[in-house]
Amino acid sequence: MTARVTQRRANALEHRDMSSDASERQASVAQHPREPASAAEEAAFSAAFAEFLRAYPTYATTSKLDELRASEYWRLEERGHVYLDYTGGGVHADSQVRRHMEMVRASVFGNPHSTNPTSAFATALVERARARVYEFFNASPEEYAVIFTANATHALKLVGEAYRFESGDQFLLTFDNHNSVNGIREFDRVRGARTSYVPVLPPSMRVDEATLNVFLGMAHQAGHNLFAYPAQSNFSGVQHPLEWIERAQQRGWDVLLDAAAFVPTNRLDLARWHPDFVALSFYKMFGYPTGVGALIARWSALAKLRRPWFAGGTISVVSVQADQHHLAHGAAAFEDGTIDYINIPAVEIGLDYLDSVGMDLIHERVRCHAGWIIDRLLAMRHANGLPVVRLYGPRSGRMRGGTVTMNFHDARGQVIDHAIIEQRATDRMISLRTGCFCNPGAGEIALGLSRDEIVTCFGTAGGHMEYEDFRRCIDGKSTGAVRVSVGIATNFADVHAFLSFASGFRE
Ligand SMILES: Cc1ncc(COP(=O)(O)O)c(C=O)c1O
Repeated sequence: MTARVTQRRANALEHRDMSSDASERQASVAQHPREPASAAEEAAFSAAFAEFLRAYPTYATTSKLDELRASEYWRLEERGHVYLDYTGGGVHADSQVRRHMEMVRASVFGNPHSTNPTSAFATALVERARARVYEFFNASPEEYAVIFTANATHALKLVGEAYRFESGDQFLLTFDNHNSVNGIREFDRVRGARTSYVPVLPPSMRVDEATLNVFLGMAHQAGHNLFAYPAQSNFSGVQHPLEWIERAQQRGWDVLLDAAAFVPTNRLDLARWHPDFVALSFYKMFGYPTGVGALIARWSALAKLRRPWFAGGTISVVSVQADQHHLAHGAAAFEDGTIDYINIPAVEIGLDYLDSVGMDLIHERVRCHAGWIIDRLLAMRHANGLPVVRLYGPRSGRMRGGTVTMNFHDARGQVIDHAIIEQRATDRMISLRTGCFCNPGAGEIALGLSRDEIVTCFGTAGGHMEYEDFRRCIDGKSTGAVRVSVGIATNFADVHAFLSFASGFRE
């Protein structure tokens, strides 16, 4: 480990006094390139940056984000981090937390659902945040309900548990889905509905449109049909077409759009697209607060759901003796118990922040960074000409986001265990992610694991199976991959640091 890396780790682990003046700290933070360790590294950095600007000339228009990196995200430098896990979670701006803390410190919040002054105050702030969500996604309150949830998973579960699956009904989903969508199959299974998966095809990891049309043609005409897919894959970065929404609806499907990985760097316009249900987590968009997400649902789709229970906050009237209840109207019927009324107002602050930066700017920045990572990784070769990295997902910037997934191979073509990559990255203070990222369907297809192999391995487990047992069973093949993802606060120095790290695997 170099002295610089050792120092970075020490900085990250040390709990320093963070109360010094922010502007002083900003002044000490370089505008974009992280300070190179040697003259040779500096020269390599400058050459790479010049080449990058030639390949992606529009990058120059995103320099505002370099300024924000210094003023809002200075702690990445100060703590020595190369953060490349934006699909895992966003990074918050300093001013978001400051604004929220000022509000919290100056206010007296009461539990909502009452008319007392502190309760009414908290309710008003929550409703302001709700109105801001409508505005941000350009959703009409006549068409959509905005329901605050704990995260995207909670939003997906609200739909799954209340969707009226019956015998003969269908749950259709793409292989490429997060486990929080896959898990809905357990609800439809116990009610006698059928789950079908539309495959994605390697190496692009996209869906064949003709195949999708065949599946969409299988809706149970008199029944309930739910089609779920991610607007952007958290595995491959593929953006699946939003045009599918209307096509599926015309063929009798209710559409559940998992927008968790899409909305941090893309505008989702709900006046243009009309999915029945949208699930998202706000921390993925702007890092703070965690613990708040949303289900944005069309009123017409919501009316078809049957909540399996009621809870505090969700009913208008309930009686123990009469054994009856009436659900509340609107979003309240789906917001179980006490909502996170201190953190929800921070959602308004986060959305204001994103708007002040500009979603188009963020999108462009991410396009350039992801494009450069892909270009350089594809060009990276061992001395014998074999590739260092195998990419899973689109190689061009068309219809893809800032998530890039790969495996590293040695000069004999053998895959290098992703656990080794993660350990070495950690030694260099690079936060990337390895495994299957809770997206087993995309992982199985990308890694070429057949159904038979997987079923056999599940069969060898006596009772309970751990991931390590599975890894041992799928001998000789990788059971996971390495993912980097760029976002709002990424700068070229982060990208360059990862590419230097990757080139260290060249033999
Ligand atoms: C595409 C996608 N869907 C759903 C989720 C689940 O989000 P959460 O863990 O915030 O509920 C994630 C999280 O990574 C995701 O990437």
